[in-house]
Amino acid sequence: MRRLAPTVDVEVLLTSEDRRQALLHDVATGLTRTPKDLPPKWFYDERGSELFAEITRLPEYYLTRRERAILAERVHEIAADTRADTLVELGSGTSEKTRFLLDGLGAAGVLRRFVALDVSEATLRESAARIAGEYPGVMVTAIVGDFDRHLGAIPPGGRRLIAFLGSSIGNFGPVERSRFLATAQATLEEGDALLVGVDLVKEPERLVAAYDDRSGVTAEFNRNVLRVVNRELGADFRPECFDHVARWDAAGEWVELALRSRVDQRVRIPGAGLTVEFARGEELRTEISAKFRPEGVRAELAAAGFEPARFWTDAQDDFALALAVPA
Ligand code: SAH
Ligand code: TRP
Repeated sequence: MRRLAPTVDVEVLLTSEDRRQALLHDVATGLTRTPKDLPPKWFYDERGSELFAEITRLPEYYLTRRERAILAERVHEIAADTRADTLVELGSGTSEKTRFLLDGLGAAGVLRRFVALDVSEATLRESAARIAGEYPGVMVTAIVGDFDRHLGAIPPGGRRLIAFLGSSIGNFGPVERSRFLATAQATLEEGDALLVGVDLVKEPERLVAAYDDRSGVTAEFNRNVLRVVNRELGADFRPECFDHVARWDAAGEWVELALRSRVDQRVRIPGAGLTVEFARGEELRTEISAKFRPEGVRAELAAAGFEPARFWTDAQDDFALALAVPA
């Protein structure tokens, strides 16, 4: 027997037309400059979100397992410190680790509301509905939005814990990152807190392997951005004509991801009124994943007006969670 679908309040701040317009803008600017680039939010259509969930289970991708271990160990401290009645998750994806926070805040007897914000609409709707089913006493809101633009849409009131997990903060460039932290700080009110997951600097071999797995899932994830542009803008990218590239940038302390053209080729993008040439070996930059040092995280939080209250790492010092409150 099917149970009645639990209710989720869904707010759509990004319609599919808004998304198309934003993609059009990013394609028109990113593919006409040198080097070419595209922002990482376009990886995450339904298939992209599935591929990412697969990445989190790869042997090379230690990040999710380490972050989960810290959450499991520290969730009661997080609940006691924040006494949050509302959990907000930015870039929630399939919300797998979220359950630790929901359980911990629930056990402390304070949890009333869960708000998930993500650009990936289908995945967001599905995970929010699943959480609503598992936590019947919690009011669930799903916001289809962009955390670059829509932090102001997070519902006010209560004591809110804003979680930004998975080292997604590392996917911003340094300038965008400080801008994001400043905007988040301005969004927080007295009593609110921010919980950020960050991957730590370590041996480049392990870092690169996490983004270049043997089974090729990350390569497919990276190429997925080309499929999104094909579908949304009628482009004729041949994903198989691009190699997946992951390399450590020692100066920036980030892993850089790119797609390298295997041949000289011309790609038509009718939806953007563009034809783009790729020389053999030319790279399209798709993402950076910055790695952090504890002192750097504290300094960046402080510079954005946060008081870095707590900093926890896993037993291997691979990953960290920082809890911060407005100073
Ligand atoms: N928090 C999960 C998923 C991380 S993957 C975890 O830690 O495993 C990054 C998530 O952020 C995806 O669900 C993606 O759809 C979402 N995302 C990426 N860019 C975004 C943006 N600009 N605004 C909102 N969500 C975004
Ligand atoms: N936030 C994740 C990270 O930096 C996103 C991610 C994981 C990712 N693997 C990727 C992005 C591969 C692009 C390509 O680890």
